[in-house]
Amino acid sequence: MSEDLWRAALATRERAYAPYSGFQVGTALRADDGRIFTGCNVENASYSQAQCSEATAVGCLIAGGARRLVEICIVAVGDEPVGPCGGCRQRLWEFGAADVPLHLADLGGIRRTFRLGELLPFAFGPHNLATSPAPPSAVDRLARLQLAREARTAIVLGSGLGGLVDAMTDTETIPYAELPGFPSTDVQGHAGEVVAGRLNGVPLLCLKGRAHLYEGLPAAAVNPPIRALKALGIRLLVLTNAAGAIADRFEAGDLVLLADHINALGANPLVGPNDPTVGPRFPDLSDVYDAKLRGRLRTVAAADGIGLGEGVYLATLGPSFETPAETRAFKVLGADLVGMSTVPEAIAARHAGLKVLGFSAVTNKAAGLKQGGLSHDETLAVGAIAGEKLKAVLTRALPELHHEL
Ligand code: HPA
Repeated sequence: MSEDLWRAALATRERAYAPYSGFQVGTALRADDGRIFTGCNVENASYSQAQCSEATAVGCLIAGGARRLVEICIVAVGDEPVGPCGGCRQRLWEFGAADVPLHLADLGGIRRTFRLGELLPFAFGPHNLATSPAPPSAVDRLARLQLAREARTAIVLGSGLGGLVDAMTDTETIPYAELPGFPSTDVQGHAGEVVAGRLNGVPLLCLKGRAHLYEGLPAAAVNPPIRALKALGIRLLVLTNAAGAIADRFEAGDLVLLADHINALGANPLVGPNDPTVGPRFPDLSDVYDAKLRGRLRTVAAADGIGLGEGVYLATLGPSFETPAETRAFKVLGADLVGMSTVPEAIAARHAGLKVLGFSAVTNKAAGLKQGGLSHDETLAVGAIAGEKLKAVLTRALPELHHEL
């Protein structure tokens, strides 16, 4: 019964290409539909990359349209019958089963017969893969914090605006390093972390640290954290940034609500295949920064005597600041503020169905509008002034926003 298999393996062995080892091997496999597929070893000058006869035969079986093998015969000439190497045992296992007979033969016929399971008692299989626990996703990890589960608002804190966290109570912190998909601290150069807690008694999630495109990250890097927030139950994403003022009406130290944006990054986080379970291929951006919620915030700020203007934010790639000529050009385009962030996150969040609010802390006049150059230190120092206003407005507004969401 197995002689046809042996003859097929024998004939194929004759065709083996083994000029380096001089050791020719032929394999024949019987598929479950009765067809026989054969293979011989194929060497090359990089000897360690030689291909075994079993691997060739398995390739032919698959290429021939078969999926299961029911019998194996290997022909080689040595002092003892020659069996398949470890890698080939695994290859045969993939398409065979523990009870598949495996004949070891030479030029005179079959010498020994094993069952595949005898040669590979500890096969690597789907069971090994299935039993290795998957690392917890960012959503799972965040959801371990009760306040993260209860929060409806998350806020991304821009440069120099981290002080808001000091006003929070009951805080618990998770480093980005423990949240798959969140930007790595190596790239950002400072600690990224999520702080869950309460602001004015209301659950709130703060994201300290964000992915900037000028670090060399693709725009799509903003998607995983935002989609994780959405899956967690967040409904409103508040984006904050430090920005230069282009409009005459804004000065360093002002807090400004974003009314709209201009994407001058030359990039969009939604480039690439669309995941329709997240949002549509062509999301509408006619109301990125929620007009109704902006109205609420203006009312709260006015009641507290805090000036809160509105403006259009233009995002440049950075990391160099704009030139005076660019400032003039951006003004003509309709920009009131210029910065290097926020826009990718706003697009990703709207795509995912989150409401969005944006705040700029004006840290300086844009280049060319005032004597002297721009510096990041100035950005951080002046950002703290607007940061205090942000803290005051959000502290007052959050209870109302929470109930509306
Ligand atoms: N330009 C770009 N980004 C900024 C500026 C600016 O003037 N100020 C703070 N971030």
